[in-house]
Amino acid sequence: MATSFSCCGAVSMLRTPTPLSRLSTFRSPSVSTIPNRFYKFRVKCSHAEAGVVDDSRSAPIDVVADVKSERVVVLGGSGFVGSAICKAAVSKGIEVRTSYLLWVMGRSRDVFYVTWDEVLTGATAVVSTIGGVGSEEQMLRINGEANVVAVNAAKEYGVPKFILISVHDYNLPSFLLSSAYFTGKRKAESEVLSKYPNSGVVLRPTFIYGKRKVGDFEIPLDLIGEPAESILRAIENFTKPLSSIPASDLLLAPPVSVDDLALAVLNAVVDDDFFGIFTIEQIKEAAAKVKV
Ligand SMILES: NC(=O)c1ccc[n+]([C@@H]2O[C@H](COP(=O)([O-])OP(=O)(O)OC[C@H]3O[C@@H](n4cnc5c(N)ncnc54)[C@H](OP(=O)(O)O)[C@@H]3O)[C@@H](O)[C@H]2O)c1
Repeated sequence: MATSFSCCGAVSMLRTPTPLSRLSTFRSPSVSTIPNRFYKFRVKCSHAEAGVVDDSRSAPIDVVADVKSERVVVLGGSGFVGSAICKAAVSKGIEVRTSYLLWVMGRSRDVFYVTWDEVLTGATAVVSTIGGVGSEEQMLRINGEANVVAVNAAKEYGVPKFILISVHDYNLPSFLLSSAYFTGKRKAESEVLSKYPNSGVVLRPTFIYGKRKVGDFEIPLDLIGEPAESILRAIENFTKPLSSIPASDLLLAPPVSVDDLALAVLNAVVDDDFFGIFTIEQIKEAAAKVKV
């Protein structure tokens, strides 16, 4: 006889995520670790058997379930993308039934000088948003070396997953891809993929839009980015044949919302089968999985 069950409850008993207001104070992390643990919560179940009209409702029962705790370290967590990742993780913490503890690092915890012991012990994933523009030397150091240092530290501390925010190549000719920005990014990517062949994640976004904070100001990049993404996606079928033209993606590749990128990162954190290099399309798909 077919029987359907539905359960309710539990959610309120899951660990409440850290309020966002506290996250911003995590620049110098002195966060205690929360070990993976069994959670006990109370559920009420109801079932209806085929052919039986009335629901029969059970008394509440205690259930002990193994809920995996994620401890995610966000490098560059005070930046535009890093802070969106933190915000998304907090808002999705209960929904995905996973607890997130975020250690947010900004420049005050420069990867070249950080005491990794304080940061990486017990982490289940590291997300690096470290990157930037500047002189050739600075770009190699920030986009390349800083991330290489972070990947190696994560590996040394046994962190099982590393997620790197890299960049789309915009279909650029090779002489432009040899600039320090891209060389640094590709160096970091190689390090992730060689040290984490079965779990490393490289996300390659195009231009990222959202509300970018610069000091006390907010730049609404979404006012341009959002319509541009919609238009470029709508005409994608017509523009695809043009992708063989060098650098055409500078104009034709749709920009990515910072919220979608953050959700794709969350998907990477919780999905063990999600590893390798991901394009803008795949970032969008990964984000959609978490949205659901
Ligand atoms: N924005 C875009 O349109 C775009 C497009 C494609 C790819 N990306 C990539 O996405 C990533 C995030 O970009 P974003 O726009 O969020 O940049 P962002 O706001 O400048 O954030 C970068 C973060 O990295 C931190 N950082 C730099 N060097 C560091 C170091 N040595 N140790 C520790 N932290 C360090 C910065 O700290 P401070 O704040 O203290 O400087 C900042 O928090 C970058 O890798 C960028 O290349 C961005």
